[in-house]
Amino acid sequence: MTKNAVPSLFDAAVVGALQLPNRLVMAPMTRNRAAEDGSPTELMATYYAQRADAGLIIAEAASPNQVGITFAGIPGIYTDAHIAGWRGITEAIHAAGGRTFLQVQHGGRVGHPDNSGAVPVAPSPVRLSTPIRTAAGSKDAVIPRELSVDDIHGTVQDFAQAARNAIAAGFDGVEVHSANGMLLHQFLSDNTNQRTDEYGGTVDNRIRFTVEVVEAVAAAIGPERVGVRIAPGVGANDIVESDTEELYTALVAALGGRGLAYLHVVFADPGTPVFERIRAGWDGVLIANPVLGWGSPLPGDGGRSAAEELLAAGADLVSLGRSFLANPDLVARLRDGAPINQFREDYFYGGDATGYTDYPVLESVA
Ligand SMILES: Cc1cc2nc3c(=O)[nH]c(=O)nc-3n(C[C@H](O)[C@H](O)[C@H](O)COP(=O)(O)O)c2cc1C
Repeated sequence: MTKNAVPSLFDAAVVGALQLPNRLVMAPMTRNRAAEDGSPTELMATYYAQRADAGLIIAEAASPNQVGITFAGIPGIYTDAHIAGWRGITEAIHAAGGRTFLQVQHGGRVGHPDNSGAVPVAPSPVRLSTPIRTAAGSKDAVIPRELSVDDIHGTVQDFAQAARNAIAAGFDGVEVHSANGMLLHQFLSDNTNQRTDEYGGTVDNRIRFTVEVVEAVAAAIGPERVGVRIAPGVGANDIVESDTEELYTALVAALGGRGLAYLHVVFADPGTPVFERIRAGWDGVLIANPVLGWGSPLPGDGGRSAAEELLAAGADLVSLGRSFLANPDLVARLRDGAPINQFREDYFYGGDATGYTDYPVLESVA
């Protein structure tokens, strides 16, 4: 292969110390099926092991502490029981021939006292306008408590400990979640971060928390086991960035040169200035998550053409969410151009095996 040849989705790749058999990554997806104490379950192990053909599985957002919990049924990675539960999942994925990172997510203001037992925390006391799912239905978000600088330092340590716990549970690495309007993204964006100290105001100040978390996590488990997820310009959970290009140019530069496993970009749009800047500014592995149409059914090709467009635009790997959710054998289906299962949205969050582990595989794969 010449230096500039565009790889195929089905070519091998290297991420950190891992050899991947293909370039299709299962995007992290919260499914709210953990036990009441946040421990992962055997059912979750079945779900992930079914999808072990992915080049890499990024397991769903797990909270590094109690106050970071977003919704009922999300898993944690901060107690011995959590570690034991996740160990069942990593063993199942590895036994099925797969590889897996765990996404570590602090929800910040995206949370509710009914879910975490605590008033959510955030860069500034700016309330989320959209309701929060609780066990008793959707409820209005509350005004979050502003984190002190000491709290921020403590949270950095919680991320580092969560990463150590993930490795103890058998994960191949962790993904720091700095996307989709969760705590770290709340620090990046100027509509949620109204601080006047060293964590607010200028771009360099707003990226500080994410950079400190990544530094601490990399020091704890080794940079080759650390990925970072970002969502430039994505308005999830009320995020409104006024300076997306400047912000992410600075963040990507600050994260570079550290030997991290990868950078993962949500809703990556090839040909846009922000995507081009990120690609040009990032010298490591870039995982891109294409825009397949949020709220729309999956395209008939399961996202293959959108994925190939991103590889052509310079992404090294492509992550797909709902296509993997609905197709345990997605890699084979995309490779063979086989029809794909549509997702059933009613079963995304919470519940049992229905809409979770019961999506059929192709007869040829079975
Ligand atoms: C059910 C569901 C849960 C999700 N949970 C997470 C999550 O825990 N962390 C995250 O970063 N993104 C999460 N996402 C976003 C996906 O990772 C992905 O970016 C999104 O689904 C778009 O990709 P797709 O069009 O291939 O589905 C979730 C998406 C879905 C559908």
